[in-house]
Amino acid sequence: MKHASPQPGSMQSGSEPVMGPTDLFFSTTDRRGVIRQGNSVFARVSGYPLEHLLDAPHNIVRHPEMPAGAFRLMWDYLEADRTVATYVCNLTADGGQYWVCAVVSPLDDGFLSVRVAPMTTGLTLVREVYDEALAIERDATTGGKNRRQVAEIGRAAIVAALQRRGFADYDAFMQAALVGERTTRQSLTLTAHQRPDATGEVARILDGTREVALVLEDLVRSLTTYQKLSAELAKATEGTLALTQQMAASVTAAQQASASVADRAPVLANVAAVMSAPMTAAVDDLRDLSQTFQRLHHSINDMRFQIALAATYTDMASGFAAEAWDGRAPLESLSAVPLLVDVADACVTDMAHQVRQVNSDLHAVSALVRASIDQLEEFRRMIGRWRQLTLRHAATALADQVEPVDAAVARTWLSTERLVQLSQRSTDAILPFDDAALHRHLASMRVNVAG
Ligand SMILES: Cc1cc2nc3c(=O)[nH]c(=O)nc-3n(C[C@H](O)[C@H](O)[C@H](O)COP(=O)(O)O)c2cc1C
Repeated sequence: MKHASPQPGSMQSGSEPVMGPTDLFFSTTDRRGVIRQGNSVFARVSGYPLEHLLDAPHNIVRHPEMPAGAFRLMWDYLEADRTVATYVCNLTADGGQYWVCAVVSPLDDGFLSVRVAPMTTGLTLVREVYDEALAIERDATTGGKNRRQVAEIGRAAIVAALQRRGFADYDAFMQAALVGERTTRQSLTLTAHQRPDATGEVARILDGTREVALVLEDLVRSLTTYQKLSAELAKATEGTLALTQQMAASVTAAQQASASVADRAPVLANVAAVMSAPMTAAVDDLRDLSQTFQRLHHSINDMRFQIALAATYTDMASGFAAEAWDGRAPLESLSAVPLLVDVADACVTDMAHQVRQVNSDLHAVSALVRASIDQLEEFRRMIGRWRQLTLRHAATALADQVEPVDAAVARTWLSTERLVQLSQRSTDAILPFDDAALHRHLASMRVNVAG
């Protein structure tokens, strides 16, 4: 998603409060969404004193033009114990509005949310999607559906509208959206929160955040290289698969023509009958390869999402530290930091799992490429034998068959060479990931402050 200044859209009521790119909102709720903690940014931007927000249901900031389906989607993830990212338009105390990109994660006994000001075209896209969903929800309400049914209809409308815009599902959209927001924001927040003269608990949190950011940046760099390689490999595999499948037509024609001369040239007919077997086996291997790339694509996107998430949560921790150091928030507000460390820790555990999956898939790639190439080499040998027999026993009868088969084999061969070159690079691209270091840096941020 590209960087963009927020465009005015339909959800326009009162004034837009000033929200900087480094403003981070924080809140926690119980299992039902009743607010238990918040930060000064949440209070300032929403226009409510913090005491007013505490113990209030989170829908206190609900904007009437937000489709119910967006919240249905959010709660579906939370009820499944999963983290969710959602663009939300909120209402301020004086009837104004502000958009956020919210991430919400489950805690043991409730939920935690960090929100940032959207900075990408993800917002432009989601505004169109929400407008479409809202219109459908309003029709459903007019048509007599109850609140629950309307929310479900809205959820389906949002997912369908995202699919029309090229996202496989809501997961794919929210991953791209958060990664986009994160990539645009980069280290802006972390830099803004640096307090070089800080000491004690504040310094520990800021040091830990910086260390975590360095490891995550490294990982993003490796993943970007890997993402490119895996996209090239996927393309080369698709190309080889398509050419191999095209080759099947000329091979079948050659087999039929050879069968027709079986009485004169039985050996030729026998070789022709079995020569397609290794080609079929290669097609199966190439299909397996394609599936491996789909899984890899999935794992990489999920990892990039978890990285963006962990960075957002640790940025929030640094926000608490900076506020406390500046005296804009009481020291006790640092009691929220261990909760942020918990959710960031869960992201690291998930990343470690994905890294193992990615690395084992990388190994599988080179083995599968090797297997499919072996099959194609075997096929080429059989084609060579068939050509010799054809020239010797049925040169005239099969004159039209040899050239198309030869041409198809040559085309496929060029494509397999590219595949082999790329797969050789894949064995060197094993992802390094020191999850123990990340857990350690996060643990160093677990300050002990009475809440
Ligand atoms: C941690 C957390 C944060 C939330 N943040 C918001 C928010 O910023 N704005 C909002 O309208 N709803 C937010 N919600 C969802 C609300 O609880 C509620 O589902 C939503 O406002 C729809 O309310 P309604 O069903 O009464 O229409 C949040 C929920 C949780 C658990």
